[in-house]
Amino acid sequence: MDIQSKHFLSDKVEHFTESVIREMTRQAMLHGAVNLAQGFPDFPAPAEIKRAAQEAVAADVNQYAITWGAKNLRQAIARKMKEWQGIPVDPETQITVCCGSTEAMISTLLAVCNRGDEVVVFEPFYENYGPDAILSGAKPVFVKLRPPQTADGEWTFDEGELRAAFQPHTKAIILNTPNNPTGKVFTRAELELIRDLCVEFNVLAITDEIYEHIIYDGTRHISMASLEGMQDRTVTINGLSKSYSVTGWRVGWAVGPPAVTNAIRKVHDFLTVGAPAPLQEAGAAALALPGSYYQSLAQNYCVRRDRLMPALAEAGFRCFRPRGAYYVMTDIRNFGYDNDVAFTKYLVKEIGVAAVPGSSFYNDPRDGAQQVRFAFCKQDKTLDEAGRRLGQLKK
Ligand SMILES: Cc1ncc(COP(=O)(O)O)c(C=O)c1O
Repeated sequence: MDIQSKHFLSDKVEHFTESVIREMTRQAMLHGAVNLAQGFPDFPAPAEIKRAAQEAVAADVNQYAITWGAKNLRQAIARKMKEWQGIPVDPETQITVCCGSTEAMISTLLAVCNRGDEVVVFEPFYENYGPDAILSGAKPVFVKLRPPQTADGEWTFDEGELRAAFQPHTKAIILNTPNNPTGKVFTRAELELIRDLCVEFNVLAITDEIYEHIIYDGTRHISMASLEGMQDRTVTINGLSKSYSVTGWRVGWAVGPPAVTNAIRKVHDFLTVGAPAPLQEAGAAALALPGSYYQSLAQNYCVRRDRLMPALAEAGFRCFRPRGAYYVMTDIRNFGYDNDVAFTKYLVKEIGVAAVPGSSFYNDPRDGAQQVRFAFCKQDKTLDEAGRRLGQLKK
């Protein structure tokens, strides 16, 4: 780039790249590959909520909603958090509806971080958190999640490493449970340990719980804000995208203590004004779906997981069994590649399957050089076609 064009750019954007996940979707389209890269379903959303969206548009819900969210939706969020996690929430002072949980996360970080503040992040991490921290002036401090040693084991972290990451400049910890990309569901004991550190070091927990209903093998999702002592120091982030298969609707929310919410609302107002008004009304209908809806959501995803994993194993991948979310992290050591990016390029171009290189989930790309992530939020026929194509790897 010539000096003059660089002159116009912010230093901040030099410190991160475009999203690798979204780039892989573009590559999939270019090469006609099966897209197991980006986490969006290729099956329909529930009829009730599509109807609710259509009715809202027909009823002329076409203008700006209240900046921090339509009352209907905020009330539905508060009701659901009380019902499912026992967390009391005041919809008037504690909720900000945003353009997806993506905006909820960056608005929260912009609202709470000063330059030089540190934010603890478990890695591998959902790739947005790195740029989010940089854009908000904070310094991410990474704590490793280590892959399971056995086929049925769990991703774990070292207690001492986590404690060492908490320092006087630590402002917040970003927690994502159920976790993308590992599929880890944090246990109560792990959450309590994190809670104790947050209290001891006066740190805010920002928890991305967007996969709360996508859990397997009898695991239970526990919200950090439901733990004693955490309600006043947790911002819970969630949204419609994953629980209702509507990633393109762009409706999410941040729920936190009133003072923090006030700050989030200010940032959110000047960033986006508000999320799509008719889709917020449909969101209120979605959150009123019965418990059986979530049971079948999780069951159907479990079936998809158990359909893709054997095909991956058969093709030569070592799979880390996810307990939640809809991704399988794999180890690619068997294929003799020393570079995950080169391997995923080969997969998308020559084999016809798009996946995400593991390095995009790590601060140091070398840590993910032997890992690749596959999404299984797809129809049976899509997963089967991917399996068939991946079968060629053995040849
Ligand atoms: C952990 C995590 N958080 C947030 C998002 C994005 O959510 P939204 O569509 O609500 O912006 C994703 C999408 O893949 C994700 O995996």
